[in-house]
Amino acid sequence: MSSSFGTVFKATTFGESHCAGVGVVVDGCPPRLPLTEADVQRQLDRRRPGQSRLSTDRNETDTVRILSGTENGLTLGTPIALLVPNRDQRPADYASMQQAPRPSHADYTYQMKYGIRAASGGGRSSARETLARVAAGTVAEKLLRERFGVEIVAWVGAVGDVDAPEVDVLTVDRAGVDRFDVRCPHAESAGRMMAEIARVKAASDSVGGVVACVCRNAPAGWGEPVFGKTEALLAQAMLSIPATKGFEIGSGFAGARMRGSTHNDPFVGKAGRLGTLTNRSGGVQGGITNGEPIVFRVAFKPPATIGQAQATVDFDGAPVTFEARGRHDPCVVPRAVPIVESMAALVLADLALIQSTRK
Ligand SMILES: Cc1cc2nc3c(=O)[nH]c(=O)nc-3n(C[C@H](O)[C@H](O)[C@H](O)COP(=O)(O)O)c2cc1C
Repeated sequence: MSSSFGTVFKATTFGESHCAGVGVVVDGCPPRLPLTEADVQRQLDRRRPGQSRLSTDRNETDTVRILSGTENGLTLGTPIALLVPNRDQRPADYASMQQAPRPSHADYTYQMKYGIRAASGGGRSSARETLARVAAGTVAEKLLRERFGVEIVAWVGAVGDVDAPEVDVLTVDRAGVDRFDVRCPHAESAGRMMAEIARVKAASDSVGGVVACVCRNAPAGWGEPVFGKTEALLAQAMLSIPATKGFEIGSGFAGARMRGSTHNDPFVGKAGRLGTLTNRSGGVQGGITNGEPIVFRVAFKPPATIGQAQATVDFDGAPVTFEARGRHDPCVVPRAVPIVESMAALVLADLALIQSTRK
C-alpha cells in the first residue's frame, strides 16, 4: 500500500479508524523552522469530526503530539513524527458491515485486495486517515509561508445543486471561509448550503459538493515536467483524498467549450515580472508555475454510508437489506477544506525544495 507522498518533503501516514491512533512521519523538512503542537492543532481542529451539526457525531478531540524532530519549538531537520490517539471508537456500530460490503464504500475492494480488512469503521479507507495528511500539511504550510511567502486557502464552492458565485481568489482568507460552518465565504450561498445539508441529514441521506482552492505567491518556476507537472501532482494529491471524483485546474472542463481567442491569458508587465491579464491557465503552464495564483477545484461524491435501507448482497452474494448504523457525515466538503489545503501544501513544499536544488 502506498502510504507515502512526496520525494524530498515526504509524508508517510499510518493508522486505522479504530486502532490506537493515527499519525504521520514527515521526512525532509528543513531545520530551524518554528513548529509547535499548537501550529498543527489549529488546522486539525478545522478537520475534526463533531465540530458542527453539519458533520458526523463522532466526537474526537484529535489532540496531536509531536514525538520527534523538534526541540525548543524549532525543527531539527530530522524526521518529525506526529501522533493523534483515537478515543471515540465504537466498533460495534459496524457489526452489520462484517457480513455485507457497504455499497460504494471500500469494504469489498479492500477484502479482495488483502483477503482481510479492518471491518470496524473502514480501517485505512476511513476519513480518519486524513487527519495525518492535515498534520503533515501544516508542517508543509509553515515551510511555504515562512520561507516562500505562499498562502493557501480553500473553501466550499458547491453543495449538491447549490453553487456559490465566484470568489475573489486574491483576497479570500480562512477567517472569511470559517464565518459559516459550511465553509463557504458567500453568506447567502452558505445559508442555502447549510439548509440543504440539514435536509439530507434529516432524510438519512447524503450529498456531494465541490471544494475550491487558491495557492498565492508561488513564484514562477515550480513543477517538474513531464511526469511531475504541478497540475499532475495536484490531481494525484487531490484524488487520493477519500470520496473525490473530479479535479480541474484553471478553466478546467469549461475550457473545453471555449475558443483559443477567448481562452488565452495575455501576458502583461506586473511589478517587475511578466504576469497574465486573465488566469484561465490556473497558475500553471507546461506543468510549471507561472507566478499567478494556482486555482483548482475538487469534486466530492455524496458519502456512501447512509441510514436508509439499501437493497444489496452480502459477501456470499445473498440478497440483504443494508441499513448503516454508526455516525457518518451527511456531506464531507466542510471538513474536506483543510484536507485539500494540506494536500496542496504537501505538493508545493516538495516542488519548492526540488526547485531550490535546480538553480
Ligand atoms: C472528511 C471526510 C469525511 C468522510 N466521512 C464519511 C462518512 O461519514 N461516511 C462514509 O461512508 N464515507 C465518508 N467519507 C468517504 C469515505 O472515506 C470514502 O468514500 C471511502 O473510503 C471509499 O473511497 P472512495 O470514495 O474514494 O472510493 C469521508 C471522506 C472525507 C474526506
